[in-house]
Amino acid sequence: MVRALHDLRRARRELTGRLAFVPTMGALHPGHLALVAAGQARADHVAASIFVNPLQFGAHEDFSRYPRQERLDHSMLQAAEVALTWVPQAEDLYPDGFATRIEVGGLGERWEGAARPGHFAGVATVVAKLLIAVAPDVALFGEKDFQQLAVIRRLVRDLALPVEIVGVPTVREEDGLALSSRNAYLSAEERARAAALPRALAEAAQAIGGGLPVEEALAEGRAGLRQAGFERIDYFALVDSASLEPLDEPSGDMRLIAAATIGSTRLLDNLPL
Ligand code: PAF
Repeated sequence: MVRALHDLRRARRELTGRLAFVPTMGALHPGHLALVAAGQARADHVAASIFVNPLQFGAHEDFSRYPRQERLDHSMLQAAEVALTWVPQAEDLYPDGFATRIEVGGLGERWEGAARPGHFAGVATVVAKLLIAVAPDVALFGEKDFQQLAVIRRLVRDLALPVEIVGVPTVREEDGLALSSRNAYLSAEERARAAALPRALAEAAQAIGGGLPVEEALAEGRAGLRQAGFERIDYFALVDSASLEPLDEPSGDMRLIAAATIGSTRLLDNLPL
Protein backbone atom coordinates (compact mmCIF):
# COMPACT_ATOMS: atom_id res chain seq x y z
CA MET A 1 0.00 0.00 0.00
CA VAL A 2 1.30 3.48 -0.81
CA ARG A 3 0.11 6.86 0.39
CA ALA A 4 2.32 9.67 -0.94
CA LEU A 5 2.01 10.70 -4.59
CA HIS A 6 5.76 10.20 -5.19
CA ASP A 7 5.51 6.61 -3.82
CA LEU A 8 2.52 5.95 -6.07
CA ARG A 9 4.51 7.18 -9.07
CA ARG A 10 7.47 4.95 -8.19
CA ALA A 11 5.25 1.88 -7.66
CA ARG A 12 3.35 2.61 -10.88
CA ARG A 13 6.58 2.63 -12.91
CA GLU A 14 7.36 -0.88 -11.66
CA LEU A 15 4.07 -2.28 -13.02
CA THR A 16 4.72 -3.34 -16.59
CA GLY A 17 2.04 -4.46 -19.04
CA ARG A 18 -1.60 -3.41 -19.10
CA LEU A 19 -2.93 -1.77 -15.94
CA ALA A 20 -6.56 -1.64 -14.79
CA PHE A 21 -7.64 0.85 -12.12
CA VAL A 22 -10.52 0.73 -9.64
CA PRO A 23 -11.02 4.04 -7.79
CA THR A 24 -13.05 3.66 -4.58
CA MET A 25 -14.03 5.52 -1.46
CA GLY A 26 -13.40 2.37 0.60
CA ALA A 27 -16.00 0.55 2.73
CA LEU A 28 -15.55 -2.18 0.16
CA HIS A 29 -18.19 -4.79 -0.65
CA PRO A 30 -18.60 -7.47 -3.33
CA GLY A 31 -19.61 -4.78 -5.86
CA HIS A 32 -16.08 -3.34 -5.61
CA LEU A 33 -14.59 -6.82 -5.90
CA ALA A 34 -16.58 -7.31 -9.12
CA LEU A 35 -14.81 -4.19 -10.46
CA VAL A 36 -11.45 -5.70 -9.49
CA ALA A 37 -12.35 -9.01 -11.19
CA ALA A 38 -13.46 -7.14 -14.33
CA GLY A 39 -10.11 -5.31 -14.27
CA GLN A 40 -8.20 -8.56 -13.91
CA ALA A 41 -10.01 -9.94 -16.95
CA ARG A 42 -8.83 -6.95 -19.00
CA ALA A 43 -5.30 -6.26 -17.80
CA ASP A 44 -2.07 -7.74 -16.39
CA HIS A 45 -2.40 -5.89 -13.06
CA VAL A 46 -5.07 -4.05 -11.10
CA ALA A 47 -4.45 -0.93 -9.01
CA ALA A 48 -7.09 0.46 -6.63
CA SER A 49 -7.40 3.67 -4.65
CA ILE A 50 -9.21 4.36 -1.40
CA PHE A 51 -10.09 8.02 -0.84
CA VAL A 52 -13.20 9.55 0.68
CA ASN A 53 -13.23 12.62 -1.52
CA PRO A 54 -14.38 15.69 0.42
CA LEU A 55 -14.95 17.64 -2.81
CA GLN A 56 -17.95 15.50 -3.85
CA PHE A 57 -19.89 15.91 -0.58
CA GLY A 58 -22.20 18.86 0.07
CA ALA A 59 -21.89 20.85 3.30
CA HIS A 60 -24.74 18.96 4.98
CA GLU A 61 -23.98 15.52 3.56
CA ASP A 62 -22.39 12.45 5.12
CA PHE A 63 -18.66 13.12 4.61
CA SER A 64 -17.79 12.86 8.31
CA ARG A 65 -19.85 9.73 8.94
CA TYR A 66 -19.02 7.97 5.65
CA PRO A 67 -17.83 4.46 6.68
CA ARG A 68 -14.03 4.21 6.93
CA GLN A 69 -12.32 0.81 7.37
CA GLU A 70 -8.94 1.18 5.73
CA ARG A 71 -7.30 -1.90 7.24
CA LEU A 72 -10.13 -4.23 6.28
CA ASP A 73 -10.34 -2.68 2.80
CA HIS A 74 -6.62 -3.14 2.31
CA SER A 75 -6.76 -6.81 3.27
CA MET A 76 -9.77 -7.36 0.97
CA LEU A 77 -7.79 -5.84 -1.91
CA GLN A 78 -4.75 -7.96 -1.06
CA ALA A 79 -6.90 -11.10 -0.96
CA ALA A 80 -8.28 -10.11 -4.38
CA GLU A 81 -4.68 -9.87 -5.66
CA VAL A 82 -4.74 -6.16 -6.33
CA ALA A 83 -1.14 -5.29 -7.22
CA LEU A 84 -1.12 -1.72 -5.95
CA THR A 85 -3.35 0.04 -3.42
CA TRP A 86 -3.08 3.80 -3.22
CA VAL A 87 -4.50 5.66 -0.25
CA PRO A 88 -3.99 9.26 -1.40
CA GLN A 89 -3.33 11.94 1.16
CA ALA A 90 -5.79 14.83 1.00
CA GLU A 91 -2.88 17.30 0.96
CA ASP A 92 -1.36 15.55 -2.07
CA LEU A 93 -4.60 15.69 -4.03
CA TYR A 94 -5.70 19.10 -2.77
CA PRO A 95 -2.66 21.14 -1.76
CA ASP A 96 -3.19 24.49 -0.05
CA GLY A 97 -4.89 26.92 -2.39
CA PHE A 98 -6.26 24.20 -4.68
CA ALA A 99 -8.78 26.04 -6.84
CA THR A 100 -9.42 23.94 -9.95
CA ARG A 101 -12.77 22.26 -10.67
CA ILE A 102 -13.79 20.19 -13.66
CA GLU A 103 -17.46 20.70 -14.56
CA VAL A 104 -19.17 18.34 -16.98
CA GLY A 105 -21.95 20.60 -18.30
CA GLY A 106 -25.40 19.30 -19.28
CA LEU A 107 -24.98 15.65 -18.31
CA GLY A 108 -23.80 16.56 -14.82
CA GLU A 109 -26.51 19.13 -14.16
CA ARG A 110 -29.74 17.16 -13.90
CA TRP A 111 -30.85 14.28 -11.60
CA GLU A 112 -27.99 13.77 -9.11
CA GLY A 113 -26.47 17.06 -10.24
CA ALA A 114 -29.68 18.95 -9.38
CA ALA A 115 -30.19 17.10 -6.08
CA ARG A 116 -26.53 17.47 -5.04
CA PRO A 117 -25.12 20.74 -6.46
CA GLY A 118 -21.35 20.53 -6.91
CA HIS A 119 -21.29 16.74 -6.53
CA PHE A 120 -20.25 15.89 -10.07
CA ALA A 121 -17.65 18.66 -10.19
CA GLY A 122 -16.13 16.98 -7.12
CA VAL A 123 -16.30 13.55 -8.74
CA ALA A 124 -14.94 14.73 -12.11
CA THR A 125 -12.10 16.66 -10.47
CA VAL A 126 -10.92 13.77 -8.29
CA VAL A 127 -11.35 11.15 -11.01
CA ALA A 128 -9.29 13.26 -13.43
CA LYS A 129 -6.56 13.62 -10.79
CA LEU A 130 -6.59 9.91 -9.98
CA LEU A 131 -6.50 8.90 -13.65
CA ILE A 132 -3.63 11.29 -14.39
CA ALA A 133 -1.63 10.03 -11.41
CA VAL A 134 -2.22 6.29 -11.94
CA ALA A 135 -2.15 6.40 -15.77
CA PRO A 136 -4.07 3.14 -16.24
CA ASP A 137 -5.02 1.60 -19.58
CA VAL A 138 -8.53 0.86 -18.37
CA ALA A 139 -10.61 2.11 -15.40
CA LEU A 140 -13.71 0.43 -14.01
CA PHE A 141 -16.80 1.99 -12.46
CA GLY A 142 -20.06 0.45 -11.22
CA GLU A 143 -23.26 0.91 -13.22
CA LYS A 144 -24.99 1.42 -9.88
CA ASP A 145 -23.92 5.08 -10.12
CA PHE A 146 -25.15 5.29 -13.67
CA GLN A 147 -24.99 9.05 -14.08
CA GLN A 148 -21.50 9.14 -12.55
CA LEU A 149 -20.39 6.60 -15.16
CA ALA A 150 -21.85 8.77 -17.95
CA VAL A 151 -20.16 11.89 -16.53
CA ILE A 152 -16.80 10.08 -16.32
CA ARG A 153 -17.10 8.79 -19.89
CA ARG A 154 -17.74 12.36 -21.08
CA LEU A 155 -14.89 13.75 -18.96
CA VAL A 156 -12.46 11.24 -20.44
CA ARG A 157 -13.68 11.88 -23.97
CA ASP A 158 -13.64 15.68 -23.64
CA LEU A 159 -10.16 15.80 -22.08
CA ALA A 160 -8.86 13.03 -24.39
CA LEU A 161 -7.50 11.10 -21.42
CA PRO A 162 -5.84 7.94 -22.77
CA VAL A 163 -7.89 5.43 -20.78
CA GLU A 164 -10.77 3.10 -21.59
CA ILE A 165 -13.75 3.44 -19.23
CA VAL A 166 -15.66 0.24 -18.48
CA GLY A 167 -19.01 0.06 -16.68
CA VAL A 168 -19.62 -3.05 -14.58
CA PRO A 169 -23.16 -4.31 -13.83
CA THR A 170 -24.58 -3.69 -10.36
CA VAL A 171 -24.14 -6.44 -7.77
CA ARG A 172 -27.32 -7.02 -5.75
CA GLU A 173 -28.44 -8.66 -2.52
CA GLU A 174 -30.80 -11.62 -2.82
CA ASP A 175 -33.86 -9.37 -2.50
CA GLY A 176 -32.57 -7.11 -5.26
CA LEU A 177 -31.12 -4.23 -3.20
CA ALA A 178 -28.06 -2.84 -4.98
CA LEU A 179 -24.88 -3.17 -2.91
CA SER A 180 -23.71 0.21 -1.66
CA SER A 181 -21.42 1.34 1.15
CA ARG A 182 -24.30 3.56 2.31
CA ASN A 183 -26.55 0.53 2.95
CA ALA A 184 -24.67 0.33 6.28
CA TYR A 185 -26.70 3.38 7.41
CA LEU A 186 -30.02 1.46 7.16
CA SER A 187 -31.69 0.15 10.32
CA ALA A 188 -32.91 -3.47 10.10
CA GLU A 189 -36.43 -2.24 9.50
CA GLU A 190 -35.37 0.26 6.79
CA ARG A 191 -33.18 -2.41 5.20
CA ALA A 192 -36.20 -4.71 4.85
CA ARG A 193 -38.24 -1.93 3.20
CA ALA A 194 -35.38 -0.75 0.96
CA ALA A 195 -35.91 -3.64 -1.46
CA ALA A 196 -38.99 -1.73 -2.64
CA LEU A 197 -36.61 0.44 -4.71
CA PRO A 198 -35.31 -2.28 -7.09
CA ARG A 199 -38.80 -3.80 -7.06
CA ALA A 200 -40.40 -0.53 -8.20
CA LEU A 201 -37.82 -0.21 -10.98
CA ALA A 202 -38.35 -3.81 -12.13
CA GLU A 203 -42.12 -3.36 -12.12
CA ALA A 204 -41.90 -0.10 -14.06
CA ALA A 205 -39.56 -1.75 -16.59
CA GLN A 206 -42.01 -4.59 -17.03
CA ALA A 207 -44.99 -2.24 -17.33
CA ILE A 208 -43.28 -0.06 -19.94
CA GLY A 209 -42.15 -3.17 -21.82
CA GLY A 210 -45.78 -4.35 -21.73
CA GLY A 211 -46.99 -1.10 -23.31
CA LEU A 212 -48.20 0.95 -20.31
CA PRO A 213 -47.67 4.69 -21.00
CA VAL A 214 -44.36 5.79 -19.46
CA GLU A 215 -45.88 8.47 -17.20
CA GLU A 216 -48.36 5.95 -15.73
CA ALA A 217 -45.63 3.36 -15.11
CA LEU A 218 -43.45 5.99 -13.42
CA ALA A 219 -46.36 7.23 -11.27
CA GLU A 220 -47.04 3.65 -10.13
CA GLY A 221 -43.35 3.23 -9.29
CA ARG A 222 -43.33 6.42 -7.19
CA ALA A 223 -46.54 5.35 -5.43
CA GLY A 224 -44.95 1.96 -4.61
CA LEU A 225 -41.96 3.70 -3.07
CA ARG A 226 -44.13 6.01 -0.95
CA GLN A 227 -46.15 3.03 0.22
CA ALA A 228 -42.95 1.25 1.27
CA GLY A 229 -41.99 4.25 3.41
CA PHE A 230 -39.60 6.20 1.17
CA GLU A 231 -40.20 9.75 2.39
CA ARG A 232 -38.52 11.65 -0.43
CA ILE A 233 -38.21 10.69 -4.06
CA ASP A 234 -35.71 12.93 -5.83
CA TYR A 235 -36.39 11.31 -9.17
CA PHE A 236 -37.86 8.18 -10.71
CA ALA A 237 -37.48 8.59 -14.44
CA LEU A 238 -36.98 6.95 -17.82
CA VAL A 239 -33.95 8.39 -19.59
CA ASP A 240 -31.84 7.96 -22.67
CA SER A 241 -28.83 5.87 -21.56
CA ALA A 242 -26.24 8.12 -23.19
CA SER A 243 -27.60 11.66 -22.80
CA LEU A 244 -29.68 11.00 -19.63
CA GLU A 245 -32.40 13.19 -21.16
CA PRO A 246 -35.87 12.17 -19.87
CA LEU A 247 -38.06 10.12 -22.22
CA ASP A 248 -41.87 10.40 -22.41
CA GLU A 249 -42.05 7.27 -24.47
CA PRO A 250 -39.81 4.27 -25.08
CA SER A 251 -37.04 4.96 -27.58
CA GLY A 252 -33.57 3.50 -28.28
CA ASP A 253 -31.23 2.54 -25.45
CA MET A 254 -33.09 3.45 -22.24
CA ARG A 255 -32.55 3.30 -18.49
CA LEU A 256 -34.84 3.70 -15.53
CA ILE A 257 -33.09 5.73 -12.84
CA ALA A 258 -34.17 6.53 -9.27
CA ALA A 259 -33.00 8.24 -6.10
CA ALA A 260 -35.10 8.11 -2.95
CA THR A 261 -34.64 8.48 0.79
CA ILE A 262 -35.69 6.05 3.47
CA GLY A 263 -35.11 7.23 7.04
CA SER A 264 -32.00 9.35 6.65
CA THR A 265 -30.45 7.21 3.90
CA ARG A 266 -30.56 8.26 0.28
CA LEU A 267 -30.44 5.29 -2.10
CA LEU A 268 -29.76 5.24 -5.84
CA ASP A 269 -30.58 2.54 -8.31
CA ASN A 270 -31.21 2.04 -12.02
CA LEU A 271 -32.20 -0.65 -14.47
CA PRO A 272 -31.72 -1.10 -18.22
CA LEU A 273 -34.81 -1.66 -20.34
O1 PAF B 1 -18.01 5.90 -6.90
C1 PAF B 1 -17.19 6.26 -6.04
O2 PAF B 1 -16.84 5.51 -5.13
C2 PAF B 1 -16.60 7.65 -6.11
O3 PAF B 1 -17.53 8.57 -6.57
C3 PAF B 1 -15.29 7.72 -6.92
C4 PAF B 1 -15.53 7.36 -8.37
C5 PAF B 1 -14.26 6.78 -6.32
C6 PAF B 1 -14.74 9.15 -6.88
O4 PAF B 1 -14.49 9.57 -5.59
